[in-house]
Amino acid sequence: MKLLVVGGGGREHAIIKKLRENPEAETIYALPGNGGIAADAVCVPQIGAKDISAIVDFSVEHQVDFAVVAPDDPLALGCVDALHKAGIPCFGPDAKAARIESSKVFSKNLMKKYGIPTADYQVFHDPKEAMAYLEGASFPIVIKADGLALGKGVLIPQNLGEARDAVKTIMEDKAFGDSGNEIVIEQFLTGPEVSVLAFTDGTAIRPMVSSMDHKRAGDGDTGLNTGGMGTVAPNPCYTPEIAQVCMDTIFLPTLAAMRAEGCPFKGCLYFGLMLTPDGPRVIEYNCRFGDPETQVVLPLLKTDLLTIMQAVENETLGELDVEWHNGAAACVILASGGYPAHYEKGKPITLPATFPANVTCYHAGDKLEGDTLVTSGGRVLGITAAAPTLRQALSDAYAAADTVSFEGKYLRHDIGRRALAALEGQ
Ligand code: AMP
Ligand code: GLY
Repeated sequence: MKLLVVGGGGREHAIIKKLRENPEAETIYALPGNGGIAADAVCVPQIGAKDISAIVDFSVEHQVDFAVVAPDDPLALGCVDALHKAGIPCFGPDAKAARIESSKVFSKNLMKKYGIPTADYQVFHDPKEAMAYLEGASFPIVIKADGLALGKGVLIPQNLGEARDAVKTIMEDKAFGDSGNEIVIEQFLTGPEVSVLAFTDGTAIRPMVSSMDHKRAGDGDTGLNTGGMGTVAPNPCYTPEIAQVCMDTIFLPTLAAMRAEGCPFKGCLYFGLMLTPDGPRVIEYNCRFGDPETQVVLPLLKTDLLTIMQAVENETLGELDVEWHNGAAACVILASGGYPAHYEKGKPITLPATFPANVTCYHAGDKLEGDTLVTSGGRVLGITAAAPTLRQALSDAYAAADTVSFEGKYLRHDIGRRALAALEGQ
């Protein structure tokens, strides 16, 4: 079979490595892919992930049997709709269903209408009305741009002055472009955060192993928000009892709500949850695999990924058992110094000849210059280890991360610390 994966980060590398485990996968194309992915797939750097018509033309021309659209932008732009129209089976939601991520106003209104637990909120189109509302609000409070903003569209002002600045930044200065035409102002919640990715064909759902992201750039959860500096799976805060509550009050009601709205969700639905003292609440939905969550979740998947993705496309997921390995996985991101603000690119990367058998190096932001792999993004590599215990997985991931070098290499040193504390406190 000829497979195609749209995207070119660590998440896509993890998907590709897993798809390759299926002996029927002869060729895997990655559009655009990256320098490291080139070892596992045929990369096409000229075709960007947002270039929908070029992706469709390529798929038709190369007689692709199955495509996976991984990033949020092409999903929101209707890549799956366009591939389907051209007769290419694929994995991912159509543009209407992708609104669950691409519009926070859509997702908040969906949750309200169908009674899915989330933070209380108000929607504003007019900055003056937002400012007036803030006068009577309590702080901290959460202000979110409606549209996609590379994970940076959420501000948490601590007082009225900061809140006014936040409204100005999003709605008047348009720091996130048209994504800030509308905003959601919502209640600040507290509690451990859990990421749950789930396969769904619109009706049946198979949640994946839970995970924990580390979004801030610095140790101790300080500094700017990033795309994610590391992950662990499973998340020890997510007990079987909480999983059942989430299934009954969040997961199944969300699928039913999307069906009722005429946009059944097929693909990977990501639930960003907060376990508050009043129970689990939805912080956000993503219409895709999370990055770097995928880099700890997929290594623990036992069932063949392509088989699951085909069952999602054919709406037969209800007939499939999805199995997971025991044990844990940890991923440490190696970033370019300065990320998520300014950083330099083009630094040669030195990798060890081999990694230990339980370690995988996922390539997120690099490219080939001749035969040399050089940095080309903020998040450069994800070093994942799988092991019987989380402590072992962390120790192996950090040991392997030490064997990689490039100028300006930056990493957090406390990935998994909170998860270990939660485990040991149990
Ligand atoms: P998001 O991009 O929606 O995942 O938000 C980014 C981060 O902001 C989340 O991972 C949370 O840490 C935080 N956040 C978002 N919404 C809330 C909320 N209502 N209360 C507290 N923290 C929040
Ligand atoms: N790691 C969070 C995300 O993929 O949005």
